[in-house]
Amino acid sequence: MFVQVAPSILSADFAALGRAVEELTNAGADLIHVDVMDGRFVPNLTIGPPVLAAIREHTNLPLDVHLMIEEPERSIADYRKAGADVITVHAEACKHLQRTLTMIRDLGAEAGVALNPATSEHALQYVLDDIDLVLVMSVNPGFGGQSFISSSVHKVANVRKMLNDAGRRAVQIEVDGGVTASNAQNLVTAGAGILVAGSYIFSAPTLGEGIRSLRIK
Ligand code: DX5
Ligand code: ZN
Repeated sequence: MFVQVAPSILSADFAALGRAVEELTNAGADLIHVDVMDGRFVPNLTIGPPVLAAIREHTNLPLDVHLMIEEPERSIADYRKAGADVITVHAEACKHLQRTLTMIRDLGAEAGVALNPATSEHALQYVLDDIDLVLVMSVNPGFGGQSFISSSVHKVANVRKMLNDAGRRAVQIEVDGGVTASNAQNLVTAGAGILVAGSYIFSAPTLGEGIRSLRIK
């Protein structure tokens, strides 16, 4: 089964992000996963629109922007302008989730919804027509290098069933957190189409080997 690999630059050297993005592009990444954290929704702070715009200059790959921020509706236009192709917001961070997703699509980006490990897939039930992607978090967001929560595989299967039953087969499921070559196969079998990996890819002998070992034969 074909799977796309989206390396997370959270594990890169933040003093050399341009070079990291170029290296990942040359190593065969399908998308570049950019983790935006606000120090409120999650206990960590990363980058904002100006840094995203700077990264944009270093790759032609789609920028997959994961917003771990409160009130994302206040800044999604800035992330789109900075070059985001996919914008994913957390269901837990949106008071008016359907409105925010519509806003993302109206800006011309693909709209994603992320679910924390403790959030049920039922949170998606009334926005199935408004999404292009579901991001199943397989760790609690905030940091790279955490251990994979194994119940995520079951959640991926439940989300896949929900999407298929609603006639939304084209919606991709992306999994983020603790992804390695040991759990990739199960995730893809359950219905994941995009795997995010940070520490696994950056600790592989080469970025290319890390990316290739996540592709399911
Ligand atoms: C976690 C981030 C992830 C993180 C994944 O909050 O959303 O994208 O970079 O890192 P690993 O693959 O190391 O768990
Ligand atoms: Zn992420």
